[in-house]
Amino acid sequence: MAIKKVGVVGCGIMGGGIAQVCAQSGYEVTISEINDDLLNKGMKVIKGNLAKSVEKGKLSKEEEAAIVGRLKGTTKIEDFGDRDLVIEAAVENMGLKKKIFADLDRVCAPGAIMATNTSCLCVTEIAMATKRPDKVLGMHFFNPVPVMKLLEIVTTIVSSQETFNTAKSFGQSLGKVVVIAKDTPAFIANRIAVPMFIEAMKVYEEGLATKEDIDNAMVYGYNHPMGPLALADLVGLDTLLYVYDSMYQEFKDPKWAPPLLLKRMVTAGHLGRKSGKGFYDYTKK
Ligand SMILES: NC(=O)c1ccc[n+]([C@@H]2O[C@H](COP(=O)([O-])OP(=O)(O)OC[C@H]3O[C@@H](n4cnc5c(N)ncnc54)[C@H](O)[C@@H]3O)[C@@H](O)[C@H]2O)c1
Repeated sequence: MAIKKVGVVGCGIMGGGIAQVCAQSGYEVTISEINDDLLNKGMKVIKGNLAKSVEKGKLSKEEEAAIVGRLKGTTKIEDFGDRDLVIEAAVENMGLKKKIFADLDRVCAPGAIMATNTSCLCVTEIAMATKRPDKVLGMHFFNPVPVMKLLEIVTTIVSSQETFNTAKSFGQSLGKVVVIAKDTPAFIANRIAVPMFIEAMKVYEEGLATKEDIDNAMVYGYNHPMGPLALADLVGLDTLLYVYDSMYQEFKDPKWAPPLLLKRMVTAGHLGRKSGKGFYDYTKK
């Protein structure tokens, strides 16, 4: 099956990036949000990113206009009825994702494929919320989507080979390097990276080093492009808390338990860059 029309659920950090990359790769994209304010805010971010690419000479004005012309926003799930592939990038919450997939199953054409961008939730459980579990898989993009080359495709014991083949060709058409992961918590890259994030937060929480020195240690000692605390702020501390909580629930191993400091920061609304404050303060220029 050839994908032509793409839907994206959620116009936040990831949904916006996924929609942008799909439109840049020539696909017609419909992207949804829960209300007009959030939709306008998300679309503004996408358009701002494209305008920056024009300023840097990476895109022509004509290309920018064509990409924007391929992007359509909506607040109605019914607008996904003609999509060949819908990628869900709503918040990391199983109840919400199951509801979205059940609704998509109701409105999408029988042959349409549905993918979740979940960071660590059980893809099989999301698939079973539909009547087409063979057409559901994980498509786990990395942040920022226009920059990061990796795409983890998460297969389940109920997803079909045909669905995988289509998703793989689609991912490659976006210029991504596709790796195949089984449906286990946090898949491949995050399974390996999460312990480092948790340990960095604990070193900070215990007052063993400043946030700057923790980040500098990993940047200059391991050549990471960004330190773990700065990266946590970029990802979103609420998203990380969802991820650690669900890994802890699945494995029942204290190794994955979220640090107390992270819980307190999320409770206080310190979510990282998106709220203006996380481990670092983004309110000052
Ligand atoms: N942030 C990251 O670095 C990252 C990386 C990989 C995967 N993910 C995963 O991607 C998903 C989205 O994360 P994010 O960081 O973009 O979160 P985000 O909070 O920036 O965006 C989520 C958006 O989904 C919207 N939303 C919620 N319910 C909706 C619905 N029913 N219909 C349409 N929109 C809805 C919210 O209003 C919000 O704007 C999560 O599952 C997360 O685990 C995040």
